[in-house]
Amino acid sequence: MISARNIHKKYDSLEVLKGVSMTVEKGELVTIVGKSGAGKSTLLHILGTLDNADSGEVMINDTNIGKLNKNELADFRNRNIGFVFQFHHLLPEFTALENVLMPSLIAGNKKSEPRAKELLDYLGLQDRFEHKPGQLSGGEAQRIAVARALMNKPLVVFADEPTGNLDSQSSRDMHQLFLRLKKELGQTFVIVTHNIELAELSDRSLRMADGLML
Ligand SMILES: Nc1ncnc2c1ncn2[C@@H]1O[C@H](COP(=O)(O)OP(=O)(O)OP(=O)(O)O)[C@@H](O)[C@H]1O
Ligand SMILES: [Mg+2]
Repeated sequence: MISARNIHKKYDSLEVLKGVSMTVEKGELVTIVGKSGAGKSTLLHILGTLDNADSGEVMINDTNIGKLNKNELADFRNRNIGFVFQFHHLLPEFTALENVLMPSLIAGNKKSEPRAKELLDYLGLQDRFEHKPGQLSGGEAQRIAVARALMNKPLVVFADEPTGNLDSQSSRDMHQLFLRLKKELGQTFVIVTHNIELAELSDRSLRMADGLML
């Protein structure tokens, strides 16, 4: 489903990615591990269309994302890609339900409230619809962020240290949630993590060092 070939990326003279290739199959949960500065987030941002490579090719299903213009890319991202970051990045003025609805509102779908509620139910957040992010625990806020990532039924969810900011119990709960979404929904994940437990639970763990995939 995802195929990256010979990705290079430089920031000024600093070579951050030195020819990275990888593939991800549909329904796989792949983790990317490696030391700080190895280039993991840079790679994830390129795979997720948030940044562009200097050279190389990224295919997501049949789409060569390097060939899309800015508007096509924004639309493709909104419809096909979900993101979860270390910090939840929920909009503080909006309720949990409104935050989860946001991607479908952006896609122009006005009738998505039942799906948003169903997702929140599914993630055990049925009592949190009207809470604002400031009224949620870290683990709850991160689960809302996962619900938001899933809202448009993305082909793939990219996560960058999704449990980096959670205590160990909430981290474990989040790992189990990812496994459940994979098993029950067939959701594909690519997750950058420093968490060994999560790497061991994943289908495949890729290791990066110094801009290369080992
Ligand atoms: N926008 C940028 N401008 C300049 N340099 C950058 C930029 N983004 C990343 N870098 C550099 O690229 C290298 C790789 O960064 P990256 O964030 O991909 O590492 P990482 O593997 O995700 O590390 P960590 O585990 O600490 O998150 C680092 O040396 C970083 O300083
Ligand atoms: Mg990083």
